[in-house]
Amino acid sequence: MLKIELATTQNKSPVYLHPGILKLTGQMLKRSFTPCPVLLVTDKNTWRYYGEICKRSLLEENYLPFVAVLEGGEKVKTLQSAYKLYGFALRKGLDRKSLVVALGGGVIGDLAGFVASTYMRGIPLVQVPTTLLAMVDSSVGGKVAVNHPLGKNIIGSFYQPARVLIDPGTLKTLPHREFSAGLAELIKYGIIMDRNFFLQFERLSNNKLIKLKNDQRLLKFLAKAVLLKGKVVTLDEKEEGLRKILNFGHTFAHALEAATSYTYYLHGEAVALGMIAATRLATRLKMIEEEAAGRILTLLSCLNPPPPPPDLTMGSVLDALQADKKKEGKELIFILPITIGRAVTYMAPPVEDVTAVINEYLSIPLKARKG
Ligand code: NAD
Ligand code: GLY
Repeated sequence: MLKIELATTQNKSPVYLHPGILKLTGQMLKRSFTPCPVLLVTDKNTWRYYGEICKRSLLEENYLPFVAVLEGGEKVKTLQSAYKLYGFALRKGLDRKSLVVALGGGVIGDLAGFVASTYMRGIPLVQVPTTLLAMVDSSVGGKVAVNHPLGKNIIGSFYQPARVLIDPGTLKTLPHREFSAGLAELIKYGIIMDRNFFLQFERLSNNKLIKLKNDQRLLKFLAKAVLLKGKVVTLDEKEEGLRKILNFGHTFAHALEAATSYTYYLHGEAVALGMIAATRLATRLKMIEEEAAGRILTLLSCLNPPPPPPDLTMGSVLDALQADKKKEGKELIFILPITIGRAVTYMAPPVEDVTAVINEYLSIPLKARKG
């Protein structure tokens, strides 16, 4: 079993990776938590595949799981859902010694994490991610949040999980499209902070990338991603400086998601498109050599991110960009790659360059979607 110790100033947040760890959930908790009531939050898909395994494992170690199965999808990441979960937990008698277990993708992790961080001023949170995106990004590092009608992840906090249990075996049921979206966040670490990691993905040709799902090497890639993210979070938990690089691609991504009401793109797909746009922006601003940018763009295009929907307009993307929460004052912030393995924060690029890269994306015909 692999263990990666992620320590911030306030907490230790160990991450365990092991195929089959899901059925050891109870045992993994027993090391630190005496048997207690557990709010087990999940969504319908995840519950269908993995709910009983997780619940049984908790019962075997004398925990008392109370299961909340949500519909799933971005639409459930709301204060209303959190409010229902508080009520459920109160009715079941959960107290400050109880636990929250988030079993699912980033939506469940962010929502259940937000509930854990606020219920009775905070009770321990255990993240059990079951999507690739959640394994390599959202379950690690302590960002928890719900959405507001005016913006994504607007209401939230930094709340480190007491444990993260990653079972790569759960990925076997993850649809290809979801896996591909998760690959975007995985490859991101190579582009922004580790050239060798990037080269490993580059060496896998187009179809081998998607086949990683059933490849022995995946465990090593997951571990490396957790290590890289852990390094950043340990140095800058509250995103005062360095951690901003993890938002590579996210300025454009959040604008695309908001402009399409969070219904057209998977988050990872929007991030892939955002990284493509940011790389093109860096090229226009002469921040990166064309050869390096070309290699980044080639690798990202292997993920086959979706073309724009027919009704997406420049105006709606620009409006959504202006609402971005990463803005400082009135200025937009972008994370731009300056070579393979390094990225920097860039404030207020010329509007004509921003519109030019959006235009490049909007010009892609709908039928360009492969597969
Ligand atoms: P998701 O949670 O919606 O999961 C995607 C889909 O996969 C869902 O339908 C889910 O039911 C299903 N699913 C989950 N595990 C499965 C499995 N093993 N087999 C089959 N189906 C499975 O989406 P996501 O991509 O995991 O997460 C996206 C969310 O994560 C967004 O809300 C985003 O804002 C958030 N996020 C947060 C952070 C952070 O640092 N907190 C980082 C990145 C993204
Ligand atoms: N997903 C970006 C971060 O955790 O900071």
